[in-house]
Amino acid sequence: MTPDSVLEDGSLETTQSETRPPLMNAKPDMSDHLIVTIDGPAGTGKTTVAHQLAARLQLDSLDTGAMYRCITLLAIEEGLAPSDPGPILEALTQHVIDFDWEPTPPQITLDGRRVDPRLREADVNDLVSRIASLPAVRDRMVQAQREIAGRHPRIVTEGRDQGSVVFPDADVRFYLDAAASVRAHRRATELQSSGKTVDEETILSSIENRDRLDRERTDSPLRVPQGAIRIDTGSLSVEQVVDALEHAVREHLKSAASGGGV
Ligand code: DC
Repeated sequence: MTPDSVLEDGSLETTQSETRPPLMNAKPDMSDHLIVTIDGPAGTGKTTVAHQLAARLQLDSLDTGAMYRCITLLAIEEGLAPSDPGPILEALTQHVIDFDWEPTPPQITLDGRRVDPRLREADVNDLVSRIASLPAVRDRMVQAQREIAGRHPRIVTEGRDQGSVVFPDADVRFYLDAAASVRAHRRATELQSSGKTVDEETILSSIENRDRLDRERTDSPLRVPQGAIRIDTGSLSVEQVVDALEHAVREHLKSAASGGGV
């Protein structure tokens, strides 16, 4: 396990950086540093796409939603109000949120415990947008995400603000989108295939509610980053989306290697 303490005292522990083979068609300097961001609303498959893209291009991958979910779980476990940032920030100095970079994809841990899939349960789902709207919490996360990229400079990072706020100079920025009804249907199918009884209308209203909170919050609302490649995933399979992203990244690398502006 390669420990990456992302939040303790707002600082980060040192960690070994990983050695990766260079990308095809990439100049050596480009292979040392490649930041790809994927933003978009809930249910566009960003996390799956980011992990698959990272595997194809031999990059690390960062699920920043898991960081907000982990803080939410911490607040739930500690009985903290989601509206009051003070005690939440205080709790972050007493508990350790880490990533274990050994497995693929990397696993988030809270005080050494692997907490995914607990992070996907209803109580966390219901509260996470409120916690993610707290500016003080976001500041801490943005700092932690930049520090992670400093130590993992070949990375695909996905969330709501990665290309717009955290890494506005990322090498390649993507924005994935799909109609809310499509996203709700996908989520319902996913839950049904894991044996759960679902009501698609309830899922749709929860997705619409999260969209509204993510788009309307004052700090870092969800928006299309400048220069982002926008992809409507509505009629595409995961593989087709990953193909499109991989193609765009490789084109970027070719263009950079031939000295073209990117
Ligand atoms: O992608 P997700 O559903 O796991 O994200 C969980 C919540 O965190 C969601 O309300 C959006 C928020 N989030 C955010 O505000 N900024 C990010 N970079 C990532 C997620």
